[in-house]
Amino acid sequence: QWTMHSYVESAIASIRAQVGKGKVIAALSGGVDSAVAAVLIHRAIGDQLTCIFVDNGLLRFGESEKVQTVFRNYFQIPLQAIDARQRFLDVLAQVTDPEKKRKAIGNLFIEIFEEEAKKVEGADFLAQGTLYPDVIESVSFKGPSATIKSHHNVGGLPERMHLKLVEPLRELFKDEVRELGRELGMPEEVIRRQPFPGPGLAIRCLGAIDAQRLEVLRRADRIVMEEVREAGLYDRLWQAFAVLLPVRSVGVMGDARTYDETIALRAVESSDGMTADWAHLPYDVLGRISTRIINEVAGINRVVYDISSKPPATIEWE
Ligand code: XMP
Repeated sequence: QWTMHSYVESAIASIRAQVGKGKVIAALSGGVDSAVAAVLIHRAIGDQLTCIFVDNGLLRFGESEKVQTVFRNYFQIPLQAIDARQRFLDVLAQVTDPEKKRKAIGNLFIEIFEEEAKKVEGADFLAQGTLYPDVIESVSFKGPSATIKSHHNVGGLPERMHLKLVEPLRELFKDEVRELGRELGMPEEVIRRQPFPGPGLAIRCLGAIDAQRLEVLRRADRIVMEEVREAGLYDRLWQAFAVLLPVRSVGVMGDARTYDETIALRAVESSDGMTADWAHLPYDVLGRISTRIINEVAGINRVVYDISSKPPATIEWE
């Protein structure tokens, strides 16, 4: 009988068989997949693994600090953190096209990751948290996301660096990865984290990105997260988040006229991200989110709710 316990045993054995005495480098994104892959590989080969975290400045409120403390303090896995926030801002300054944003972010990530990986002497392997749906989407002509959005941010990396891939999650779906994380004793906070795209807040900040618009989005998104958690809805939703629209509208604040940007709220239910339904969030939760964002986030005077499902819409707006 197949159990997660026996899966861990056999995954560890095959990682050891593949890697031997070699060195592995892993990039942590802050997401569940890369974290579970890293912890599993660490369980298998200990300090033959080097973990690298590139802080691109595109994570949600508090997430960058959280990744670092969880790895260092909870797992006691050493982590090299690189503060690349300004480099990402510089590269994104003029980019508005969604695919060009992904490319710019992916290329810069590769550049920085290569710089850091070169410092790890004799690295032979690169760890990736590739899941089964990623494998299907990238080999199948029918896979929608592979052709519509280029999700695979580090796709060009291994060949150029002459690294072989270690992909211990290739046979698993998201819910199985979470189960595996639990089996490895990872904290629920990490395991139950909603999926978050590699290009991060950049593809939720529509139009050109600068530090200030990113900060507006991050503050609105933080309120969405707080209220969704407070209402006990976090675990039932595949994803919930704010999107900053480059659309100005007229409002009134006190007795003054405002002309500010718009936050779109997105919340969906899904089991694998390939299809999704918009979530029927309770009106009082929607109301609190709207009131708080408009009162607490300067630069926003209107909040709208996205009631489109996938297909034909996608989950992200870019
Ligand atoms: P879409 O918007 O295609 O998203 O319906 C499906 C799932 O994929 C995530 N997503 C991405 N993940 N890099 C990623 O790592 C990307 O460029 C990217 N685009 C979308 C999205 O958050 C959702 O869970």
